Amino acid sequence: MKRTEILRMNKEGWEKSAERFYGRTALPEYGPFSLSEEQLHLFGPITGKKILDIGCGSGHSLQYMGNGGAQELWGVDLSTKQIETAKKLLHSQESKVTLFESPMEENPGLPLEYFDIVYSIYALGWTVDLQKTLSHIHSYLKPGGIFIFSWEHPIHDRLTYENSSFTLKKSYNIEGPEYNEAWHSNVVIHHRKLSTYINTLIEANFIIEKVIDDVVLPATITEDPSKWYSTQKATLVPATFIVKATKRDISHCLINT
Ligand SMILES: C[S@@+](CC[C@H](N)C(=O)[O-])C[C@H]1O[C@@H](n2cnc3c(N)ncnc32)[C@H](O)[C@@H]1O
Repeated sequence: MKRTEILRMNKEGWEKSAERFYGRTALPEYGPFSLSEEQLHLFGPITGKKILDIGCGSGHSLQYMGNGGAQELWGVDLSTKQIETAKKLLHSQESKVTLFESPMEENPGLPLEYFDIVYSIYALGWTVDLQKTLSHIHSYLKPGGIFIFSWEHPIHDRLTYENSSFTLKKSYNIEGPEYNEAWHSNVVIHHRKLSTYINTLIEANFIIEKVIDDVVLPATITEDPSKWYSTQKATLVPATFIVKATKRDISHCLINT
């Protein structure tokens, strides 16, 4: 399937499902069963910072950043509905907000070497071209700038609950586009190994600072184990992983001639 066709299908899927995800995966949370930003403090001080959200969705993470004192709030998202919703949500901070309806695989007019922080909460894995997307993100950051993202851990959807136990139904090793079972409409997400995310970041000239896949479990288990994100599954494998990386700052390097 062509990448443009996947983007078209995924956009259609998100236009239909945007309401279902209103504010669902947003900072300070990084994702299901994960440590939160309140515990991890990966971003450091955000006061006065220029910030870009990749796959900004309903804008709740940008709102968190704005409330924390960020100076400029920029966002990119594929879905018209999500961008409209984010605009409404961020209305009170509108003087510092710039939003683009665009696939993250393209630069819709974002300034280069401009941002102190770029982040993506449960959106980066939607990309149809990880290499290109990371290379754009790298170009938007100032030298020394921070890139943080969270996404579903690639082992998580390999396990399926059936006949009272979890079975490894899909290969972890085979990468590529797959129809996603959790969705009520047809959407395609690329399965990528954890090492692919890490190595593609390194190839895009990022320095990896931290990889986190710790699991936080509730004290009691009450829900159905066949739910997409169930505590029972999270006792076996992580649901979420987080990566913090920085853009190499070469300004202080000596040049030997
Ligand atoms: C789970 S939501 C993100 C939630 C959001 N980060 C927040 O903080 O509220 C994932 C988002 O990725 C967007 N998306 C999916 N594919 C995309 C692509 N190729 N380029 C840009 N955005 C994309 C969807 O429209 C959706 O809004």
